[in-house]
Amino acid sequence: MEPINFVDLKKQYSAIESDVNESLSAILKSGQFILGPVVEEAEEALSKYTNAKHTISVSSGTDALFVSLLALGIGPGSKVFIPAFTYTATAEVIALLGAEPAFVDVDEDTYNISCESLITKINQYPKSELSNSAIIAVDLFGLPADYNTICDIAMNSGLYLISDAAQSFGGSIGSQKVGKLSPITTTSFYPTKPLSCYGDGGAVFTDDDEIAMKIKSIRSHGITDNPYENVRIGTNARFDAIQAAVILSKLKIFDEELSRRESTSSIYNQELKNIVETPITTNQVKSAWAHYTIRTRDRDGLREFLTKNSIPTMIYYPKGMHEQTAYQKYHNGDPLIVSEKLCSEVLSLPLHPYMSENQVYYVSGKVKEFIG
Ligand SMILES: Cc1ncc(COP(=O)(O)O)c(C=O)c1O
Repeated sequence: MEPINFVDLKKQYSAIESDVNESLSAILKSGQFILGPVVEEAEEALSKYTNAKHTISVSSGTDALFVSLLALGIGPGSKVFIPAFTYTATAEVIALLGAEPAFVDVDEDTYNISCESLITKINQYPKSELSNSAIIAVDLFGLPADYNTICDIAMNSGLYLISDAAQSFGGSIGSQKVGKLSPITTTSFYPTKPLSCYGDGGAVFTDDDEIAMKIKSIRSHGITDNPYENVRIGTNARFDAIQAAVILSKLKIFDEELSRRESTSSIYNQELKNIVETPITTNQVKSAWAHYTIRTRDRDGLREFLTKNSIPTMIYYPKGMHEQTAYQKYHNGDPLIVSEKLCSEVLSLPLHPYMSENQVYYVSGKVKEFIG
């Protein structure tokens, strides 16, 4: 059996090598590297895929969040409700804008923001303090959050809603794909993400014409049509043509890759469901399976055992955001019990579209061997 990689970008490259090489060579010859026709083509393809009216590509998933918050006018005085169990970027952009991240516990089954805890947290603030505030829901490990409920909560509380779909591009709820589940959706094309490029990249999806126009302007220093007319404060969050070409190539095989991720996860679920806590699956909510994450009490022992057996694993995430040194000051001491429990129990197993069945059975066999 071949060695098992946590993700395998080399195998994926072999599958698209000639297509991607041809496009990259055309870009090198064109001399147009930042924004331009290939970036526009990728944006159109992404809008077609998600059915979102606007796709604004940007330089990373972090910037996608940053420009979205900036476009909404989030800043000093704003509160932004986020799950405590997430990647740093979700909290970081809020703090950078001078707003306050408000940490909410997550749901024990989905690992996504708990709607009950969200309502409790929102109710801690007088309405007058939430006049320019927002919720960022995160689709952890690829599973879309409960947007049917979260959209209602946002509307009833007068809060903006952003979906941080850095890990869930390709996921869906019913017939609606990620990109259409929330008024604003951000994603990341970081190399290990389900749809990824060969560097940093990201995108914002929205049906809102005004927000789209503002984000387009903000990603290019707040300009409109005239490059030397700055109508608002912006930044440099532009996407580049080389990364756009990679996205176009990978989109061609993306659905096939998603179904391979799904098959691998199904084997893991089947093999491990009575052994450890396995990820929740429903017919209605489809995960993009960015990561296959199990939970077990002796997580560290299991990890050591798997490492000894040449099986790479990752801990996403070892600490809640409220426990991180830089963010402790935003935490008011509310219990975040589920988030903290998950941090001590979660373990992500290797999962990528190029794993063989043998490899998947080998990994699950080793997990069983240890737990059994
Ligand atoms: C949940 C989440 N949000 C945001 C980001 C940031 O994306 P990027 O690394 O492209 O800036 C990531 C990346 O890992 C993420 O997992």
